Amino acid sequence: MELAHDVPPSPTSVNDGGHIYYFRAGGVGLIFDAQADLLPRILHWGADLGPLSDELLRDLALATVPPFVSNSPDRGIVLGLLPEQARSWPGTPGLTGHRDGRDWSPFFRQTTLEVNGTSEGTQRCVIQARDADAELSLRIELELTDSGLVRLRGAVRNDGGTIYTLDGLLLALPVPSRADEILDFTGRHLRERSPQRQPFQPGTRARDSRRGRTGHDATLLLIAGSAGFNAGSGEVWGLHVAWSGNHRTLAELLPSGERLLAGGELLLPGEIRLRPGDEYVGPWLYGSYGVGLDDLSGRIHRYVRNRPLHPRRPRPVTLNTWEAVYFDQSPSKLSALAEAAAELGVERFVLDDGWFAGRKDDRSSLGDWYVDENVWPDGLAAFSKHVRGLGMEFGLWVEPEMISSDSDLARAHPEWIMGPRATRPAPEWRNQQVLDLTHPDAYVYILERLDSLVSELSASFLKWDHNRDLIESGHQPAGEAAVHQQTLAVYSLLAKLRARHPSLEIESCASGGGRIDLGILEHTQRVWASDSNDALERQTINRWTKLLLPPELVGAHVGPRQSHTTGRIHDINFRAGTAIFGHFGIETDILEATSEERLLLQKWIALYKERRALLHSGRVVHGDHLDPAYQVYGVVAHDQSEALFCFAALATSICAPPGPVRLPGLDPRALYAVRLLPPGDVIRAGKGTTHGHAPWVKQGGVTLTGDALAHVGVQAPDLFPEQLLLLHVERYPGKAGRDNMVDTAPTATTPAPKTS
Ligand code: GLA
Repeated sequence: MELAHDVPPSPTSVNDGGHIYYFRAGGVGLIFDAQADLLPRILHWGADLGPLSDELLRDLALATVPPFVSNSPDRGIVLGLLPEQARSWPGTPGLTGHRDGRDWSPFFRQTTLEVNGTSEGTQRCVIQARDADAELSLRIELELTDSGLVRLRGAVRNDGGTIYTLDGLLLALPVPSRADEILDFTGRHLRERSPQRQPFQPGTRARDSRRGRTGHDATLLLIAGSAGFNAGSGEVWGLHVAWSGNHRTLAELLPSGERLLAGGELLLPGEIRLRPGDEYVGPWLYGSYGVGLDDLSGRIHRYVRNRPLHPRRPRPVTLNTWEAVYFDQSPSKLSALAEAAAELGVERFVLDDGWFAGRKDDRSSLGDWYVDENVWPDGLAAFSKHVRGLGMEFGLWVEPEMISSDSDLARAHPEWIMGPRATRPAPEWRNQQVLDLTHPDAYVYILERLDSLVSELSASFLKWDHNRDLIESGHQPAGEAAVHQQTLAVYSLLAKLRARHPSLEIESCASGGGRIDLGILEHTQRVWASDSNDALERQTINRWTKLLLPPELVGAHVGPRQSHTTGRIHDINFRAGTAIFGHFGIETDILEATSEERLLLQKWIALYKERRALLHSGRVVHGDHLDPAYQVYGVVAHDQSEALFCFAALATSICAPPGPVRLPGLDPRALYAVRLLPPGDVIRAGKGTTHGHAPWVKQGGVTLTGDALAHVGVQAPDLFPEQLLLLHVERYPGKAGRDNMVDTAPTATTPAPKTS
């Protein structure tokens, strides 16, 4: 039999009576059936199945048709990319909406289907379809990126002469029946991204976010996989909705066996009323497949890193003033802080909340974006100059989408405040309301303020905050729901500002990690993962944030010795060793640090600078230690020449010692030297004794193959809880590293090669 379609099918734009398409990239295969004039249905999304001929693809399609069972639709249930009742789909419909009570169940017929590729190696299919009776058009874009990520979005156009009210547009990707366990995430302020698992059972598990921002409790990904999957094993399929407003992600299983992940924007009542000729474009959805979560996540990371707007210059060591001074800003204190920061090696100094007119606490002044002359009598430009004179970049905190009821702006323009009706304000949240950026004058005002501040202060970084949910967010005076439009206005504002200041970097913060998604990341270069700088909390928050985002995008700071959000006390090594696996920064009053702490911090900063090229380009892997008390994770260079791992004890365990930790992701046949890496080499265990130290550590290192490291690992030292160690793994150069390894293998006591 002929094997074909090894390469993407050549572009076609005809509906020629039936086609099965096969996209292959990055170890993933995506096969879809665009039979006759119906919307495509996915036949396979998962492992690359190798080259397949047309004939084999047709047989594969036939093999997936289920048998007829009693009391079921005569033509079977068909799940298209957009689930339709017209094809007997009894589950959640893809399109919900109506034209004054009619046309609520459209049946779309393909008009054109175009397959092509992009220069970045993405295979792409655009399907145009129409329901002539309902007078609606649909466009679906479906892509497989070169890293193997499925990317899709839908758009609906009203071709009729009357208003069409759209209530929702969801696209669906099927997953196989062996995906019988679900992993998703919840969270809250200070504890984002808590994983939760459950069996994938009949019914619909919907994760809705009605917060008008992505949400602390939003699931970054909704994942289905074979029971017991973990970082390194088990097939997994995940879906992400790249949208920073209200959204819905769901996992659905019908009694007939269809199992799917679906997602889209969650539309509020009346939010999308399509006038004749209007089109609604939904957000991009991202589907990632993997064998193990690291594989799934690696595909997303590769895609994110390939985007043209991905930050490419080294991620600067950042100091943020929030937990150092809060609202208590004084030029002398902050100048001293800046000087101390520069001495430690900080590269970016970010002035947080409290610098603008009248802002003494969180009860007032949002919207009055002018420098407070009482606090900064010499102006902020002078301070920025001082900071830059010390060799650091200057960054500024702003919260452009918000307005305090107690502000000059609110007094001047009450009509710019979002709310359900002119006579009743939305509930206050952190003493603030939402500024209506869909109001053209409000938008122009904010753009002008931001633009001027960035120019006048030579700011190269904005920490862009968003400290409340958008509840009851309507457009005045009638109060029509406006979260959709507001989300688009924010994207547009960010884009305009960056067009005016192309080197400006922006951090997405929303009371910590309340706005993290690939939509906002089209416009921002960093996310603030959490307002919790407690390193213990951050081990978990950072781990799961990095499921979606590569480490260089995830802000992680060394917080105060005693955490301001939990009261826990952590030494500098645990705090700094946690932060270097993200975009490293400091958020504590370093003027109060002991000289020993400062010295150590300096060493950690130096280490971060030395290793950030690896940390911010390599593959993120996890060692899957079975005991939840321990975390093992690392970053492996793409050429597998080296890796940096962290072994963290989060709690005490019922077992001691911790046992071996496996270090995956290295070249199985190559030889590696493994050693502890200072300053992450301090073993705090059992006072006055040397117990806790594994023999290989005492001997200064060990040499093992990549295979042995992945399958046997090295014994972990017995650590106190809330301690961590860094392990550096380096391939022996030349012949000893790759070839003749059996003959030339150095013994276990061979000193590790020097690495710096
Ligand atoms: C939010 C942010 C914090 C800080 C404060 C300032 O809570 O998440 O990091 O910037 O606002 O008010």
